[in-house]
Amino acid sequence: MIPTPAIAPSILSSDFARLGEQIETVMDAGARVIHVDVMDGHFVPPITIGPLIVEAIRDLVKGRGGTLDVHLMIERPERHVEAFAKAGADVITIHPEATPNIHYGLKLIRDLGCRAGVVINPATPVSTLDEIAGDVDYVLVMSVNPGFGGQRFIPRSEHKVGAVRALLDRAGNRAPVEIDGGIDRQNVGCVVAAGAGIIVAGSAIFHSGDPERATRELKAAAMSTV
Ligand code: DX5
Ligand code: ZN
Repeated sequence: MIPTPAIAPSILSSDFARLGEQIETVMDAGARVIHVDVMDGHFVPPITIGPLIVEAIRDLVKGRGGTLDVHLMIERPERHVEAFAKAGADVITIHPEATPNIHYGLKLIRDLGCRAGVVINPATPVSTLDEIAGDVDYVLVMSVNPGFGGQRFIPRSEHKVGAVRALLDRAGNRAPVEIDGGIDRQNVGCVVAAGAGIIVAGSAIFHSGDPERATRELKAAAMSTV
């Protein structure tokens, strides 16, 4: 179990020429979850990274006691989860809009020995979780539209976090709520207060000029509200 609130730096905004070094920096600063944004050019416009990169960073992340959190923004994720599980993913998170059978996709992830997460996009109702609330290990609330780092936090996303937390609690599921998109030191407090346990941050960490300090400060800001 990941102690929460946990900061999950998104390597999407990192310097890929120095990826290993950047991961070491944020982990030394207290990050224990590394968030990997996989995009296929179909579900979202960009193409980013695949299982080869997950495999390349696996020993570095796990050797420091970290968790690899793989966010699949791809069509038909069920066709690819095995490759990511084999590459070392601990958590695999999928979008209901990307698959004809989200329940099957989540089961497949668990059968592969990973923890299964589902994503709620800004326009996706929380009620999407009604029939699967007992079948998820994570719920990721998008506070921007998926596809790009560096976007602005959509206000009221914290209410969605609260609604997801309440729905999971009613289902007797202590699965953490993860928030992803536009998180910084200013807004992290309100999302943690609303019930977010895993805090993804890309540009606020890697575009800050000092990722070590940015991770520490974001973590301190998140902790100060609990
Ligand atoms: C967006 C990705 C995010 C992104 C977050 O589609 O899912 O993980 O990297 O980046 P920031 O923190 O810059 O919004
Ligand atoms: Zn993400």
